[in-house]
Amino acid sequence: TGYFTYDPGFMSTAACKSAVTFIDGDQGILLYRGYPIEQLAKQSSFLEVSYLLMNGELPTQAEFTAFDHEVTHHTMMRESQKNFLNGFHYDAHPMAMLCASVGSLAAFYHDGLDMNDPAQRRLSAIRLLAKMPTIAAACYRYSIGWPIRYPRNNLEYVTRFLTMMFEVPSEPLKLNPVAAKALDLLFILHADHEQNASTSTVRLIGSTGANPYACVAGGIAALWGPAHGGANEAVLKMLAEIGDVKNVAKAVDRAKDKNSGFRLMGFGHRVYKNFDPRATIIREMTHEVLKELGVSDPLLDVALALEQVALKDEYFIERKLYPNVDFYSGIIYKALGIPTEMFTVMFAIARTAGWVAHWLEQHESADAKIGRPRQIYTGAPTREYKPIITR
Ligand code: CMC
Repeated sequence: TGYFTYDPGFMSTAACKSAVTFIDGDQGILLYRGYPIEQLAKQSSFLEVSYLLMNGELPTQAEFTAFDHEVTHHTMMRESQKNFLNGFHYDAHPMAMLCASVGSLAAFYHDGLDMNDPAQRRLSAIRLLAKMPTIAAACYRYSIGWPIRYPRNNLEYVTRFLTMMFEVPSEPLKLNPVAAKALDLLFILHADHEQNASTSTVRLIGSTGANPYACVAGGIAALWGPAHGGANEAVLKMLAEIGDVKNVAKAVDRAKDKNSGFRLMGFGHRVYKNFDPRATIIREMTHEVLKELGVSDPLLDVALALEQVALKDEYFIERKLYPNVDFYSGIIYKALGIPTEMFTVMFAIARTAGWVAHWLEQHESADAKIGRPRQIYTGAPTREYKPIITR
């Protein structure tokens, strides 16, 4: 009983109007501000895409230079934030550290933030975009016991991040341009995806007027789950567990058995019921990147075989289950030397562009309201309280 439409999982409820990203799940179309993901993947860069998502238009050269300068000059972490990081146990999961560290930014930048001032809102969005790679790399280095590296502001976004991750003072980091290009491309593909669980979380928290650092920390928490961004880590663990092409058929059978509690990670999507255009792009680049980096990974053979078997299987055909963006991303991250626990952190860095774009849009919207879902009550009817001795 109830007076509301019952829509668990928001299968058919539009919670907002948005001009950021368009998805047609049946046709496999993904547009950022009207631009097809295929064109952006081929011709743009992550920072340009971030500008596009936040501002609605592609930048002119002068606008891009100014944006790049601004982002670059907000990359530093406060020294005292390191103390915060030092409180974590040495083997804390980097997502746990990232979530808490980003939330803690509110304590460093919250005072004086006037949420009604568009310039201040924009500055906090820039801060999040700029600091996310610094915090992410710091979490990684803390987890392996290495000292944190400063962001080198003479480098561009992705190279700066890779340098903070892997540089040691004694030997300058030899960065393969193929690696930087591949990571930039993965960041573009993950930058936004309409009202997914983490973006909806950012918007729900944002709807209360909470500060943007708290909103994005909430987004990171939502992203962590294996049904969402945590899938990339889960895919690699699954492929490693399958281990060999000869075990693939058994794994597919297990995924079909509802009692097994096992799903093929990296398969299926709430919106894409034909193919995930991001997966198509990643699948092509995986071969290329591995070849150019001179890496041969037997897990790629396992992934290819798994895809082959699943795509021919009635169970997966009937349910329209196809590989999603995260089926191949882990193999590329691994080839780039990124440890498995950092995969979802990579996703978080990229999705920050989308989170802040949606948060900015929400605060400019004329019909913004606090998010307040209703429920269908299934509990007891009104009843009399009984003192404990009479129960
Ligand atoms: N392996 C086996 N069966 C599956 C899978 C899978 N990966 N995904 C869905 N199914 C089955 C499910 O059991 C159900 O079967 P039935 O109709 O017989 O009960 C049917 O397909 C529909 O599944 P659902 O859970 O109702 O679909 P959903 O739209 O609620 O969930 C999903 C979408 C992505 C959570 C789900 O497909 C899944 O858990 N996939 C694995 C995790 C994953 O790869 N997530 C990353 C998503 S893409 C990255 C991102 O944007 O976050």
